[in-house]
Amino acid sequence: MNIEKATLENAIDIANIEKICFPPAEAANLESIKQRINTFRNQFFILVDNSKIIGFINGMVTDIENLNDEMYENASLHNENGKWQMIFGIDILPEYQNKGYAGMLMRHFIENAKNENRKGVVLTCKEKLLSFYEHFGFSNEGISQSEHGGGCWYQMRLIF
Ligand SMILES: CC(C)(COP(=O)(O)OP(=O)(O)OC[C@H]1O[C@@H](n2cnc3c(N)ncnc32)[C@H](O)[C@@H]1OP(=O)(O)O)[C@@H](O)C(=O)NCCC(=O)NCCS
Repeated sequence: MNIEKATLENAIDIANIEKICFPPAEAANLESIKQRINTFRNQFFILVDNSKIIGFINGMVTDIENLNDEMYENASLHNENGKWQMIFGIDILPEYQNKGYAGMLMRHFIENAKNENRKGVVLTCKEKLLSFYEHFGFSNEGISQSEHGGGCWYQMRLIF
């Protein structure tokens, strides 16, 4: 297993994994994946098993403290010198889940944000994943403003 920075050549595989892992209203489409790789490739990592992409993690950097829905739609809001590292998504292909691979990606992503001198990492998630993120030191800040794909989202933050 290798963790690498995503390239545009990986965009189709990444979009396919996103389709498998999320319902249509929540899944980022191919265009959006391409925009993200183009804009914040330094914060877009793939997990590769013998040249097969089995998962990924990504998010923009910003000075804005709270994650809002416009960020998902508009990669150009990325600010390479920003204080906060956002997480837009972490996906592991179903047949590779529960083997510690998301943990590998999360720890790598958090380490990368520390090395880039960010203040911390912010994400939103559904209730069922609160305990997953608490595992990595994130605190629940309550219900977020996000209406991304409908449903109720919680904002979580890890401060370094
Ligand atoms: C959530 C997801 C990324 C977890 O990936 P994974 O590779 O199965 O997770 P790991 O095996 O690395 O688990 C890491 C730890 O979190 C725990 N964990 C895994 N899934 C969990 C869940 N749904 N709820 C609570 N804890 C969970 C594991 O038990 C493990 O704990 P351990 O280290 O004590 O054994 C994966 O299920 C997925 O891609 N789901 C679909 C997309 C999604 O919902 N992404 C997150 C929202 S952005």
